Amino acid sequence: MFSLKGKTALVTGSTQGIGKEIARCFAEHGAKVYVHGSSSIEKCQRAADEIGAAAVAVANLLQDGCADKLYRQTGGVDILVLNASVQYRVPWHEITSAEFDEQMKANVKSNFELIQKYVPHMQTQKWGKIVTVGSVQQYRPHKDMAIYAATKAAQMSLVTNLAKQLAPDGITVNNIAPGVIATPRNEEVLSDVEYREKVLNAIPLGVEGDSADCAGAALLLCSDAGRYITGIDLIVDGGMHL
Ligand SMILES: NC(=O)c1ccc[n+]([C@@H]2O[C@H](COP(=O)([O-])OP(=O)(O)OC[C@H]3O[C@@H](n4cnc5c(N)ncnc54)[C@H](OP(=O)(O)O)[C@@H]3O)[C@@H](O)[C@H]2O)c1
Repeated sequence: MFSLKGKTALVTGSTQGIGKEIARCFAEHGAKVYVHGSSSIEKCQRAADEIGAAAVAVANLLQDGCADKLYRQTGGVDILVLNASVQYRVPWHEITSAEFDEQMKANVKSNFELIQKYVPHMQTQKWGKIVTVGSVQQYRPHKDMAIYAATKAAQMSLVTNLAKQLAPDGITVNNIAPGVIATPRNEEVLSDVEYREKVLNAIPLGVEGDSADCAGAALLLCSDAGRYITGIDLIVDGGMHL
């Protein structure tokens, strides 16, 4: 039921953190997985070697043409996980135009262009899984990440819109919304004892999550176990959104 044998998957941003665990989990369940990163093929290869992924691909989501560039390296895939994102931690009144544009570009525009690029192959074979990675900030936006939170909400809107349109083609489209997950991205802020305590106090289960918690959710949505699930937001946050 959870097997991905015979499937090819691309997980964006899988050199580390949540994406890497999703890629590891998919490889363990039999998929041919592409590890993707922003620029360093060596970093991608190190992650791929560690987790037993089959191949690597590089494209910076901040650059025009990144969807074409990525597709040239992977060809059509059965499973597309849009996990990479750009995030700035800045009070809302200090967010610069460049910071606004970068977050919109990587998290919304490039992800949308990737969906446009990868869907036709899925439509041809009448089978496909698309998972975007959002955030608990769709529900509880952090005061210093107003635009980041807005990009995740916009992405969720695309998920509900496209889930309905692509269902007749046998393609499911879902979102995973992680809460606080221990990854290289937030290592530094969570090393501040006072801040960490404040964050943990906001999580009903009382602990931060692990990247593997998100991998389990992704496996559900991309395997036959989740074949009847589309258009949902699967929140993986220890209850933080409540
Ligand atoms: N960690 C959390 O607590 C948390 C909470 C809510 C939501 N999320 C979401 O979960 C996802 C993964 O987060 P994470 O904490 O695992 O992140 P992370 O540790 O910062 O890893 C980010 C990954 O994305 C890639 N990436 C970054 N910028 C890119 C760009 N411009 N173009 C292409 N790839 C790029 C990185 O590749 P390189 O290494 O090659 O640069 C890396 O593989 C993100 O969408 C994030 O918004 C995370």
